[in-house]
Amino acid sequence: MRVIGLMSGTSVDGIDAALVDISGRELDLQVNLMASQTYPYPDALRDQILAVCAGAPLSIEALAVLDDAIATQFAQAAQSIQTEYSPTADLIGSHGQTVFHRPPQNNLGYTLQLGRGAAIAHQTQTSTVSNFRVADMATGGQGAPLVSKLDVCLLSHPEFYRCVQNIGGIGNVTYLPPLTTSDQLGVGVKGWDTGPGNVLMDLAVTQFSNGELTYDADGAWAAQGMPCQPLIAEWLKHPFFQDTPPKSTGRELFSPEYLQVCLQTAAPYQLSPADTLATLTDFTAASIVYNYDQFLPHSPDQVVLCGGGSHNGYLRHCLQTRLGASQVMTTDNLGVSSDAKEAIAFAVLAYWRHHQIPGNVPTVTGAPHPVLLGDLHPA
Ligand SMILES: Nc1ncnc2c1ncn2[C@@H]1O[C@H](COP(=O)(O)OP(=O)(O)OP(=O)(O)O)[C@@H](O)[C@H]1O
Ligand SMILES: [Mg+2]
Repeated sequence: MRVIGLMSGTSVDGIDAALVDISGRELDLQVNLMASQTYPYPDALRDQILAVCAGAPLSIEALAVLDDAIATQFAQAAQSIQTEYSPTADLIGSHGQTVFHRPPQNNLGYTLQLGRGAAIAHQTQTSTVSNFRVADMATGGQGAPLVSKLDVCLLSHPEFYRCVQNIGGIGNVTYLPPLTTSDQLGVGVKGWDTGPGNVLMDLAVTQFSNGELTYDADGAWAAQGMPCQPLIAEWLKHPFFQDTPPKSTGRELFSPEYLQVCLQTAAPYQLSPADTLATLTDFTAASIVYNYDQFLPHSPDQVVLCGGGSHNGYLRHCLQTRLGASQVMTTDNLGVSSDAKEAIAFAVLAYWRHHQIPGNVPTVTGAPHPVLLGDLHPA
């Protein structure tokens, strides 16, 4: 079956589209990536999404207009990847754009992804699965991360303990103990959001460059500075890092206001922009490794990176320095595109939904049992 996966994450940089040929059932899947591409958001739409994520008020009417503007971008991404690369797809799995995420605490969590699936199904004339997170959340789960089951399928190793670390706007890990048979969901699989991925670095770069740049390409700017370790130790006291998994987060917590708090605590150190970026980058690495040290039963032999942050050479250097014996690599080294993996995951989740196969991993999201993920909209 040919499935298009569509994903835009907390970086709000653009829509990742993956055209995937999938066969098999449950965990015994064959997944062949035929094409992948990122379609950047128009600047005005990106600015509006970032404003809404940062808490800008929106009337219901304006919400409806934004929902459909995002759906149209997603539909166009699906149409573009089909016309540019190959024949038509049978199914679309669209994550949509998260604009609000409240993890469960004493109540159920709430999450909102815009870009309604019915509009995508209509515009593309292709059956579309959307709203993947709500069913898991309705059972009390975090609704995130949802990529873990695919990570088990594609990236488990018979002998090695692996951490698959996605570095999008937010970071998330899947912990994969050795898996000897591929037909069972590995016992002991864990996963959670580790905290900031690129979000703080991106916000700082945007501020320091007066909006000229949106990210630190390859970490080249940060590499010119020196990380301030006392600040990193201070910032690691943030309660999110102490919280026991399952846990998830978003731009609500690691927000523009949070960056300003970080910059205020940095003021006494009189850091240059390069030093500040080095500190934020090493803090991102430190928060990932702190999560591993606190919550993993076994240290990973390999830490396998994916997502845009895997292109940040300085961040990779910080991670490798902090991880010591664990080998840092990318999913590309294991034959899975690091840029497309999250989009591939939503293609596979749609495929599982189509075949009535649950997509969540309860040990990851904290849901009490597996559930079917996503609402199915016929063409
Ligand atoms: N060459 C690069 N060097 C450094 N950072 C990069 C590079 N390319 C991309 N990035 C970073 O990756 C980010 C985009 O990553 P990605 O698309 O994986 O995140 P996302 O949209 O939040 O997705 P998700 O939530 O699925 O993880 C950019 O905002 C930027 O910070
Ligand atoms: Mg992205």
